[in-house]
Amino acid sequence: MTKIVNSWNDFDPLKRVIVGKADFSVIPDEEPATSEKVPVDSEMRGMWGPRPTETVEKANEALDRLAKELESRGVIVDRPTPIQWNQAMITPDFRAQSGMTQMPPRDILLTMGNEIMASANSFRCRYFEYLAYWPLMNQYFEEDPEFLWTQAPRPRLTDKSYKHNYYDEKISIEERLERTANLDFVTTEVEPMWDAADVLRLGKDLFIQHGLTTNRKAMEWFKRYYPEHRVHAVNFPGDPYPIHIDATFVPLRPGLIINNPERRLPEAQRKIFEANDWQIVDAAQPAHTEPPPLCYSSVWLSMNCLVLDHKNVIVEASEVNQLEQMEKLGMNPIPVDFRDAYAFGGGLHCSTADVYREGSMEDYFP
Ligand code: ARG
Repeated sequence: MTKIVNSWNDFDPLKRVIVGKADFSVIPDEEPATSEKVPVDSEMRGMWGPRPTETVEKANEALDRLAKELESRGVIVDRPTPIQWNQAMITPDFRAQSGMTQMPPRDILLTMGNEIMASANSFRCRYFEYLAYWPLMNQYFEEDPEFLWTQAPRPRLTDKSYKHNYYDEKISIEERLERTANLDFVTTEVEPMWDAADVLRLGKDLFIQHGLTTNRKAMEWFKRYYPEHRVHAVNFPGDPYPIHIDATFVPLRPGLIINNPERRLPEAQRKIFEANDWQIVDAAQPAHTEPPPLCYSSVWLSMNCLVLDHKNVIVEASEVNQLEQMEKLGMNPIPVDFRDAYAFGGGLHCSTADVYREGSMEDYFP
């Protein structure tokens, strides 16, 4: 019996990781929590159904490329078991037209030391996504006697979990930004809801983005569930679609974070980093002016890199500015051609979930 699961941050030496799969991916029909998150000018508005086969194949090729690169560097790569998502998802509380995908794993699985927890996502179409990872979780459970296999309290996602008429087609970007600044999001506070990709782990400290996918009650839940940790709510008033922290605020090694220059972490929230001599550097400009077709994310997936250790980092191959900045910051960037996976929910960090990194729980902000 060996230790399989251990990870406390996103930068200690990576030894084992889950890489997502794009099979059976569906663009979900509108539901209370999703329409708010699809940019108004997106070509995806009003369309749903299985994603075109050719795009699924290309995404899988990109994911396989990433898996190969990782394996060539001695990292063990695990893959989920795809599920047919083109079927209705029904619970006693709701019915969704379809599921979505088993991408990105980062949204669903949160690794905290020897524990992997499936999150409490607010999209109805993602309610059963964790099942794609259950075969792996069961394997870790059988092979690692210390592994804690956990499921966060499942939200019910009734109509009470969402503000209705929150969204109106005519809402301008300025109004959206105002709502972000006022912490006025589509989700209500009737139950804790959170996506794992909103949680930035830095050892003892958890920085959790309050936004469209994670509510305040989730922060309270984290405080009680992990009393030995410090939980910090963060928000980025420059982001009109605040979903997931990993294209916004990305640590590269102890003491160094790249920050999305458009989204602006408020001064008050920077203090803890500055007081502990952490450097917050503005990320390089994305190389692209538009995301690829049928993509929910912004061009800032440029900074969604996968850190392998305090020196080596995987960066998307076409992101020339980000590659160059990594070198300036003393990192060794490894390019991987990955853009074909972007439409399936995210970049290199999103598309993975930590299983094992060396190191233990550090206090970086004593
Ligand atoms: N909201 C981010 C952006 O568009 C995308 C984050 C994707 N991350 C993820 N874990 N799925 O800039």
